[in-house]
Amino acid sequence: MKIAIGSDHGGVSLKEELKAFISTLGHEVTDCGCHSRESVDYPLFARQVCDLVRTNAVERGILICGTGIGMSMAANKFPDIRAALCHEPFSAKMSRLHNDANILCLGERVIGSEIAKDIVAVWLSTPFEGGRHKRRIELFNTLGSIK
Ligand code: RB5
Repeated sequence: MKIAIGSDHGGVSLKEELKAFISTLGHEVTDCGCHSRESVDYPLFARQVCDLVRTNAVERGILICGTGIGMSMAANKFPDIRAALCHEPFSAKMSRLHNDANILCLGERVIGSEIAKDIVAVWLSTPFEGGRHKRRIELFNTLGSIK
C-alpha cells in the first residue's frame, strides 16, 4: 500500500521511526516533511498529506504532531478526509472497521514509539467493514447543509 506521512517539529522524531517501520511492513512511504525540529506550522503538513490521499496518489496518510490534536483538527477540514486520533490499538482498529479512517493521527509527546508501532500495524492491516458503517459515513457529506 502507498502511505503518505507528515509531521510538524513536535512529531518529527516519531515520523522518522515510523517511516522505517512502515517500510519493513512492505508499504511504500512518501515523506511530506517536516525534516527538522525547527518550529513549523502543522496545518501546512496536514494539507500535503491530505492532498495526496484526496487525489488517490496514496491510499492512506499518517500525521504526527506533539499531541496529534492539531493535525486531526486540520486534516478533518478537508472533504473526504476521515482523520482519527488514536493513542491505543483498539481505537485504531475500530477507526478502520467502522469509520474507514483514511488518516491516522498520533502525538509524539503522548505515546512511546513501541505503542505507536502497534497502533500503526493494526491500523494499516484492518479493513473497513462497510455495510451500515458505509451509510453512516455517506451521511457526513450531507452535514454541511444542516443549519
Ligand atoms: C507544537 O508545539 C504543538 O503545538 C503541535 O505539535 C501540536 O501538538 C498541536 O496540536
